[in-house]
Amino acid sequence: SGGGHDAKNLRVKLVLLGDSGVGKSCIVLRFVRGQFDPTSKVTVGASFLSQTIALQDSTTVKFEIWDTAGQERYASLAPLYYRGAAVAVVVYDITSPESFNKAQYWVKELQKHGSSDIVMALVGNKADLNEQRKVPVQDGIDYAEKNGMFFIETSAKTADNINELFECHAISDV
Ligand code: GTP
Ligand code: MG
Repeated sequence: SGGGHDAKNLRVKLVLLGDSGVGKSCIVLRFVRGQFDPTSKVTVGASFLSQTIALQDSTTVKFEIWDTAGQERYASLAPLYYRGAAVAVVVYDITSPESFNKAQYWVKELQKHGSSDIVMALVGNKADLNEQRKVPVQDGIDYAEKNGMFFIETSAKTADNINELFECHAISDV
C-alpha cells in the first residue's frame, strides 16, 4: 500500500500442556498482562486468552492461547485443545523431576495424536528457583533436540524469557 512494506497479520493457535502446578497459567498471565500471581489457582478444564504482538516489518501475530488444566482428572480433555493447534508448549518445573516425566508423556501423546506439522516447544519454568533445581538444563536440551522441539527455560515470576518463548514461535511461523 505504497509503503513498500509487506504487512502480514498472522494467527497462531497455541496450547499449553504440562503437570498441575508447573506454572502454565502464570506464563500466560505474564505474557498477556505482564503480571505474576503467587496465589494462582488451579485451572479447571481450560482457559482461553489471546494476545497480539508486533514483529519487525509490520507483521503482527495474534496468539490464540488455550491454557489447559494439568490435574489428572482433566487429562482426557486435552485432545480438544491440542487438535488443530499450530504450536504446543509443553511445560515442566525445573525443581520437579516428576513434572519433567509428565512433560515427556505429553510429547509422546502429541507425537501420536497431534497434527503432524505441529510445532512443539519444551519449557523448563521456575528458572528463578535455580537453587532448588532438580532437572539439569542439559536434560531438557537433550530431550528437546531428540524430539525436534524448541527448548527454553523461563520464569513467569521474573519474566525471564517469557516474550522470547512466544517470539520464537512467531518467527518460526513467518
Ligand atoms: P494447573 O492449572 O493446575 O495445570 O497448574 P498451572 O501449571 O497453571 O500452575 P500455575 O500457573 O497456577 O502456578 C502454580 C504455582 O507455581 C503458583 O503458586 C505460582 O505462583 C507458582 N509459579 C508459577 N510460575 C512460577 C515461576 O516462574 N517461579 C516461581 N517461583 N513460582 C512460579
Ligand atoms: Mg493453570
